[in-house]
Amino acid sequence: MLMEKLRFLNEKQVLAVCREFGTPAFVYDQATLERRASEVLAFPNAFGLTARYAMKASPNAAIIRTFNRMGLHIDASSAYEVERALRAGVPPEHIQLTAQELPGNLQEIVDRGVCFNACSLHQLRVFGQYYPGRDVSVRINPGLGSGHSNRTNVGGPSASFGIWHEHLDQVFAVAQEFGLHITGMHTHIGSGTDPDIWVYCAQLSLGIAARMPEVTRLSLGGGFKVARMQNEVSADFQTIGEKIKTEFESFAHQHGRKLHLEVEPGTYLVANAGALVCRVMDIVDTGEKGYTFIKVDSGMTEILRPSLYGAQHPIIVVPQVRERRKSAKYLVVGHCCESGDILTPKPGNPEQLKPRVLKEARIGDALVIEGAGAYCAAMSSKNYNSFPECGEVLLTHAGKLVLVRRRQTLDQVLQNECSEEAV
Ligand SMILES: Cc1ncc(COP(=O)(O)O)c(C=O)c1O
Repeated sequence: MLMEKLRFLNEKQVLAVCREFGTPAFVYDQATLERRASEVLAFPNAFGLTARYAMKASPNAAIIRTFNRMGLHIDASSAYEVERALRAGVPPEHIQLTAQELPGNLQEIVDRGVCFNACSLHQLRVFGQYYPGRDVSVRINPGLGSGHSNRTNVGGPSASFGIWHEHLDQVFAVAQEFGLHITGMHTHIGSGTDPDIWVYCAQLSLGIAARMPEVTRLSLGGGFKVARMQNEVSADFQTIGEKIKTEFESFAHQHGRKLHLEVEPGTYLVANAGALVCRVMDIVDTGEKGYTFIKVDSGMTEILRPSLYGAQHPIIVVPQVRERRKSAKYLVVGHCCESGDILTPKPGNPEQLKPRVLKEARIGDALVIEGAGAYCAAMSSKNYNSFPECGEVLLTHAGKLVLVRRRQTLDQVLQNECSEEAV
């Protein structure tokens, strides 16, 4: 396996992050965020495009503001995400809610102008009761799922996301009962989908849209594959987009409807725009036939993907002082008292470990985990072992490191406990 390299930080900046903000800390790169947003906004389309940022990937307001400024809309997955996007300055009509859990304050959200995408027949019925006669969008499970692992596959018969494609008659019945117009259709089949499967799913979705005569906009979700490791390959947006464009054109030819296209990537926009900077806290080994372990001051409290899916992230040792170092084989583990807190699982298998060749590490060195912009700060086992939530930093165009989220204090970890009144 090739030794991985830093993506957007240099060694000096890594050490500056350690000094100025402490570790662990996420760093996001403004230039990469903007470059990715421009690529997504240039997704080929036949009859118009709305590109949304799936903010669940990384909901820091600094990232949302950057994308909002550039013209991306928002895919929110809960009422809380809607509120976060609104507070970051996103206009309500630029937010679409696609949620597993129907919020208690749905009316308040919709009345403010947020678009609603019904993800089940129950959700559609509730929307109909509140808003008879309105336009609405529905999320359909097209019968196919795909992801980089089973855990990120959200389509097909074993996924609860969206309305099963064979239940369209029930969708029409609910629509008729409440005079709803199903003008939007949405599919999202998983994260890390192969480009060919993504295109095939788009064809399936168009087939379903053909049976929904009032649909004028079709969202094909997110899920574009992103290479984090050097040996992985990213989805090519232009190639996929051109194929989709042709499909939309032939749909228009056959059905006389020029569908507006929506896409809503999360990973593609942020995965490689984020790095986690941590410290080597200890180095231990299990003898000649065993392994050498690097223990860092981070782990599943910041980045859960390796222990959850066996996801691979580039790991780079940055020595405290510039010097030539040999390489060595290591397992890298996190600081939690949990054997599953691993950063070097076997690819795709969190039950097994795979040593990595890294620059020889010493206690006190910095260690950078790359490809950590998506589903890391947003999706970790925060506060396990009572470690506080870590800070987030933005690397600006001018090369300045700016704090965009302070590290939690212990008082903040404890602030909602009220045991004194109970015990
Ligand atoms: C409805 C929906 N849209 C978009 C996304 C973004 O997916 P990705 O980050 O793989 O692009 C997700 C991710 O779970 C999702 O659930």
